[in-house]
Amino acid sequence: MIAIAIPMVNAIGQSPKEVEDWFSKLNQSKQKVTKFHFYYHNSRNPDKNLSAVQVAKAPPVFSDNPPYFGVLTITDDPLTVGPEISSKRVGYSQGFYATSSLEEVSMLMGATFVFTDDPYNGSTLAVLGRNPIGDQYRELPIIGGTGVFRLARGVVTLQTYFFNFTMALAIVEMDVLVLHY
Ligand SMILES: *[C@@H]1O[C@H](CO)[C@@H](O)[C@H](O)[C@H]1NC(C)=O
Ligand SMILES: *[C@@H]1O[C@H](CO)[C@@H](O)[C@H](O)[C@H]1NC(C)=O
Ligand SMILES: *[C@@H]1O[C@H](CO)[C@@H](O)[C@H](O)[C@H]1NC(C)=O
Ligand SMILES: *[C@@H]1O[C@H](CO)[C@@H](O)[C@H](O)[C@H]1NC(C)=O
Repeated sequence: MIAIAIPMVNAIGQSPKEVEDWFSKLNQSKQKVTKFHFYYHNSRNPDKNLSAVQVAKAPPVFSDNPPYFGVLTITDDPLTVGPEISSKRVGYSQGFYATSSLEEVSMLMGATFVFTDDPYNGSTLAVLGRNPIGDQYRELPIIGGTGVFRLARGVVTLQTYFFNFTMALAIVEMDVLVLHY
C-alpha cells in the first residue's frame, strides 16, 4: 500500500467546538515531523520595503556602539521561498528583537511566523529565543503553534544569507523542523 498524503490544511476548523474535537482525537493522532526552508527579509530601510522599526532604545552610552545593548525593534518581515524579495511570499515573521547582551551583538527574538499561502495558509508558529547574529548557526526554539501546527514544538535554525549595515538590510535563511500532529 502506498499512502498518499493529501494536505487538508485549509480544512482545519478553528471554532471552539472544532478545536475541542481536535483535542478529543489527540489520543489517535500521530505525531509527525515537518521540515521546511524559507527566508525572511528584515529591512529598516524606508527605500527598501521597510519591515522593521526601532521603537525603544537605552541611553546612547549603551546603545550607540556595539553590542548596541538595549535596542528594541518591531518587525513584520516577509517570508519567501527564495532569497530574492520578489520570490514567492509564504507569510510574515511578526514580532520583535531586543539586543540583550553586553558582550556581543545578540538578540532576544520573539516572533510569530504567520503563513499566508499554501501549504500552511492560516497556521502560525511561535518562536522565542536567543539570536547571536554573529554566529553562523543560531538555533531558536519553536514553542507552539496554531492551525496545522497546534501543540507544535521544534527548532528553527537561522543563517545570515545577506547583511549590509549601511543598507539596514538582512536576508536570513531559516531551516524549520517541527513536531506536530
Ligand atoms: C480517545 O479518547 C476518547 C475520548 O476521551 C475515547 O472515547 C477513545 O476511546 C480514545 N481512543 C483511543 C484509541 O484511546
Ligand atoms: C519591494 O518588494 C517587491 C516585491 O514584493 C519588489 O518588487 C520591489 O522592487 C521592492 N522594492 C524595493 C524598493 O526594493
Ligand atoms: C489563504 O487563506 C485566506 C483566508 O482563508 C484566503 O483568503 C487566501 O485566499 C488563502 N490564500 C491562498 C493562496 O490560498
Ligand atoms: C553596503 O551597502 C553600501 C550601499 O549600497 C555599499 O556602499 C557597501 O559597499 C556595502 N557594504 C558591504 C560590506 O557590502
